Amino acid sequence: MRYDKIWLDARLVTVNPAAAGLGIIERGAIAAKDGRIAYVGRQADLPGGWSATETVKLDGRWVTPGLVDCHTHLVYGGNRAHEFELRLAGASYEEIARAGGGIVSTVKATRAASEDDLVKTALPRLDHLCGEGVTTIEVKSGYGLDQDSEIRLLRAARRLGRERKVDVVTTFLGAHAMPPETTDKDQFIAQVCAMLPAIIREKLADAVDAFCEGIAFSPEQTARVFDAAKAAGLPVKLHADQLSNLHGARLAAEHGALSADHLEYTDEEGAAAMGEAGTVAVLLPGAFYVLREKQLPPVDAFRKHGVKIAIATDSNPGTSPITSLLLTMNMGATLFRLTVDELVAGVTREAARALGRLSDIGTLEAGKWCDLAVWDIERPAELVYRIGFNPLHQRIWRGA
Ligand code: NIG
Ligand code: FE
Repeated sequence: MRYDKIWLDARLVTVNPAAAGLGIIERGAIAAKDGRIAYVGRQADLPGGWSATETVKLDGRWVTPGLVDCHTHLVYGGNRAHEFELRLAGASYEEIARAGGGIVSTVKATRAASEDDLVKTALPRLDHLCGEGVTTIEVKSGYGLDQDSEIRLLRAARRLGRERKVDVVTTFLGAHAMPPETTDKDQFIAQVCAMLPAIIREKLADAVDAFCEGIAFSPEQTARVFDAAKAAGLPVKLHADQLSNLHGARLAAEHGALSADHLEYTDEEGAAAMGEAGTVAVLLPGAFYVLREKQLPPVDAFRKHGVKIAIATDSNPGTSPITSLLLTMNMGATLFRLTVDELVAGVTREAARALGRLSDIGTLEAGKWCDLAVWDIERPAELVYRIGFNPLHQRIWRGA
């Protein structure tokens, strides 16, 4: 076999679901051909007679799958530093939202931005994430809230994937908040559903999301968006139970959602429904931290009901202005008491599952894209333990 590139003397964190723990292989080798993993395993088991165009010796460095940030709102106009100051002075996120700030203030700035502006301002944030080994990122719309602005935002998100060596998975989040020009929520939900055909025609969305919350949309309104998405052939996900328990987790599970995200107020019944449906729990400790939330997501109930757990940055200008998946892992450990194994799987295999991309990315297995992060660490726990330190040695996307 002739490989394009082979990495030798590696310690592999395969995250292979068939293996125990993180599926670690000491003295491992991994080889790429045509951008995909052609061999992964013990170096001693490499098939005889192999050769490679390029050979890299990793001197015992650790290799994980390229990281997957499966929940972001990376593309938007302006920022909300001013609201951060208001919150420091005592105002709550909900008070600011109800007074016309919050998501709506970002909507105004996003509508005023051109597609070029949106790409230009998102790129430094994307670069920071990629600089820590992210090779796939999900980007949601939801700061346009009219058809043209939502489409402009999604086009900008797609462009990010052409400007950089990274996979961008896009999600249409039209039902994120009420736009400032409307007060009739049912009517706006009808408008959101009516935006879908144009978005699908341009292949601008890989999934559909909604924000089910008192300050956003009811379970019934969310269900209408889900039905429209399903009729259009798109998978769904949900911002569920972030600030109160509207049983969004159960709703997402009933609709076969890929993931339900946030979940601080989810009850055991919701966790059980997610386990049954195979809906991934995407936990977002950055938003929990910024909002100084006290209610912890029901991690034990997720474990008990076999719910797969992913974590993500939720990178957005309001509740999670964070562009570090490593820091997010640290928060997941310290704030949510997730284990190192759960966190490493949560930003690789389970994050890929939350995007419906597990057959292509998220683990080191032959046939998947050869997306890798090579780390200068002595054990995987170092990825979680340090705060504000980046041990990335090299990032490989599609074998190069
Ligand atoms: O994931 N929960 C709703 N949406 C975002 C917040 C967006 C914003 O405040 O701009 C979130 O936390
Ligand atoms: Fe979010």
